[in-house]
Amino acid sequence: MSVFTAAADQSVCAPLPVLGRDVTVPLVTGGEVTYAALDYAASAPALQRVWDDVAAYAPYYGSVHRGAGYLSQLSTDLFENARSTVADFLGCRADDQVIFTRSTTDSLNLLARALPADCQVFVFETEHHASLLPWQDARVTYLNAPRTPQQAVTTLERALAERDPYGPALVCVTGASNVTGELWPVRELAAAAHAHGARIVLDAAQLAPHHPVSLRDLDVDWVAFSGHKLYAPFGSGILAGRADWLRAAEPYLAGGGASRRVTRRQDGGVDVEWHESAARHEAGSPNVIGAYSIASACKALTEAGWDALVAREQHLVARVRAGLAEVPEVKILSLFGDDAPRVGVISFVVEGWNSSHFAAALSAEYGIGVRDGLFCAHPLVRTLLGTDPQTQGECGAPEAAPGEKSLNAIRVSFGAGTPDEHVDRFVTAVRELVTEGAKWTYRTEDGRCVPAV
Ligand code: ALA
Repeated sequence: MSVFTAAADQSVCAPLPVLGRDVTVPLVTGGEVTYAALDYAASAPALQRVWDDVAAYAPYYGSVHRGAGYLSQLSTDLFENARSTVADFLGCRADDQVIFTRSTTDSLNLLARALPADCQVFVFETEHHASLLPWQDARVTYLNAPRTPQQAVTTLERALAERDPYGPALVCVTGASNVTGELWPVRELAAAAHAHGARIVLDAAQLAPHHPVSLRDLDVDWVAFSGHKLYAPFGSGILAGRADWLRAAEPYLAGGGASRRVTRRQDGGVDVEWHESAARHEAGSPNVIGAYSIASACKALTEAGWDALVAREQHLVARVRAGLAEVPEVKILSLFGDDAPRVGVISFVVEGWNSSHFAAALSAEYGIGVRDGLFCAHPLVRTLLGTDPQTQGECGAPEAAPGEKSLNAIRVSFGAGTPDEHVDRFVTAVRELVTEGAKWTYRTEDGRCVPAV
């Protein structure tokens, strides 16, 4: 099974400079520490380079595609150049479109609105809600959780073999899980989709910040990702890929920018001629800073070199997993098993602890920011925890007694800006909390565990 391989033999590079690396936070137990941002899977800090590029451009900010002035022209050029940079970053084919959206969720909802009539959609139940939910108006088939990458391929092949072979079909799959960090066999799934006349969209929200993603190499039809996970938190996302379905669809938003020509009809109504380019789905004033920041991040990651970035991240993954393996009360959640290749996203439960309590103690007593809950992937996390779908484990769940199942999990995630000290502090904190217990008391407020002051 060909999955992405980590460049394990590369020497480990230094972390890339990110904003917030010197921010200190107070501890409930007294004093301050440098904040350890270990929730990259939710939102990664901005690269310093991205921030510097945005700051350098900001005085020249102007309207895009709708101004005769110098700064409007400059901003329009910048916006369109950003599109080309993203196309290069994603290995787009000559006739692919790159559409600026607000986020991965927005991108996949856009594609869902652009499906041809009677399109069948196939999606694994293990997807993040952003890729699980947008297809509700289509003929969607939810596929059961596979327990190996090979099983993912055979499950998909079986489902596609039974589909109506003449109608359009789309497969939606993640590149890397936002829960387990495990890589999915994207090339094989794309081959299976195409062999059965279906298309495939890759949710690269958790993959693009950690690995190179190429539409051409993976042979996927579309890719979606978010700027805020790619070190560019300025409100933009990307949908890139085949133009035909997008061109044929009604505009995602109706308004200026998407329309080429609007005329009043004799009967009093209005006729609209919509653009056929990416502008068709970008109505309203574009977020030029968001687009520019994504392009800046794409350049920064490419220049840093993927081999070095992957090697550094795999070094951190190995450090965290080795540290957690020494704490018998910790159970790492995994769909594909210990040996599965993965990015820097690791979810786990701790026997005898409620995950919200554990995450609150990591923050309040060690200055470490992680996420707890079901991570907007409720079916997957419940499958991994083996809990009843009806239970509400998001927040405020009771303490799991030894031997009892946790209702929610803790997730640690990291990337190009993470220093070794952050993951070492995390591993030490986990060990101390498990062996010595929390040093503070906590209570539930609005469903969240917080220190009782
Ligand atoms: N999708 C983001 C996460 O997994 C928000 O945390």
